[in-house]
Amino acid sequence: YTAELDASDIEKGTYPHFMLKEIDEQPFVMRNIINQYQNENGDLKLDDDIRAAMKDADRVYIIACGTSYHAGLVGKQLIENIANIPVESHIASEFVYNMPLLSEKPLFIFISQSGETADSRAVLVEVKKLGHKALTITNVPGSTLSREADYTLNLYAGPEIAVASTKAYTAQIAVLAILAVDSAHAKGIELDFNPLQELAIVANAMEVLCDQKEEMEKIAREFLAVTRNCFFIGRAADYYVCLEAALKLKEISYIQAEGFAGGELKHGTIALIEEGTPVIALATQEHVNLSIRGNVKEVAARGAYTCVISMDGLQEEDDRIVLPKIHPFLTPLVSVLPMQLISYYAALHRDCDVDKPRNLAKSVTVE
Ligand code: AGP
Repeated sequence: YTAELDASDIEKGTYPHFMLKEIDEQPFVMRNIINQYQNENGDLKLDDDIRAAMKDADRVYIIACGTSYHAGLVGKQLIENIANIPVESHIASEFVYNMPLLSEKPLFIFISQSGETADSRAVLVEVKKLGHKALTITNVPGSTLSREADYTLNLYAGPEIAVASTKAYTAQIAVLAILAVDSAHAKGIELDFNPLQELAIVANAMEVLCDQKEEMEKIAREFLAVTRNCFFIGRAADYYVCLEAALKLKEISYIQAEGFAGGELKHGTIALIEEGTPVIALATQEHVNLSIRGNVKEVAARGAYTCVISMDGLQEEDDRIVLPKIHPFLTPLVSVLPMQLISYYAALHRDCDVDKPRNLAKSVTVE
């Protein structure tokens, strides 16, 4: 697939937009990552110096912007739950003013599709001044953030042309899962989770979802064609995907969208719900399923127009989309896909410039 990726990337081919092509490429990117991050015996393969840096770290700071920051929130959960290392995830432009480093041996992980984001680089400059180690996870090895860090992990996603990041986001999460497992192995932690096997299941599930575009377009037309706002609610990892879903919808359809933690609605934000307010709920996390279902009932009782996206094994009768069952660590890789497609179709219905949204650039090289 790598050859195919290189050859046809820069052209849209039969696609109307790069964004749709890049959404469809995600299963192939997963398979590319599986191939690139395994050795000849089919075992996980990361550079020894990265493995050593993670093993040596007493705290990991994940620094990123936008969609990459949202991937970093999932990365925090993965590294903490799999490798038992404390992690903080920070927005680069906020962290740079206040870098309270409360650990002896921090490792900084910069997540950046372009590897050129000025806000993230500003933090890297400070980190290097302090003499700390940095790992950059990027789609562009040889980029500034890659060159100036001590270590680099490649996303192998192929060039991402659309301003709205899609395949880079899922590639970032896949690489973070591989990094977390490799670090656990380095620490002698026994796991019953093989990311290379699970990512192959994810790739197949992504393909199933990419074949359901009609349903996603229907949801976009039904919920988003004329609305002025939209809320995404979820709990645990679903909440992090709701933040990414809201950013996708905002940046390409210009609808005021927000991702809420389901448990936070009662602390104020439920006041925003009016008759007909679209609320899209993610319900893929078994341990909080009853709670998020309760949130859906609460907002529906206040007139919200609800759409539930759940996962096989947790589905209920009125759910609009039921995702194929995925390992709990990796559910964001499939739950984000309907959100990407719904945002794409909402932007189309509103005659927005999907690949080049107003006021935005693909790589933000100014602070
Ligand atoms: C993604 O949809 C956005 N276009 C934007 O938030 C992007 O994720 C952010 O600018 C970070 O870019 P980077 O990953 O290249 O650092």
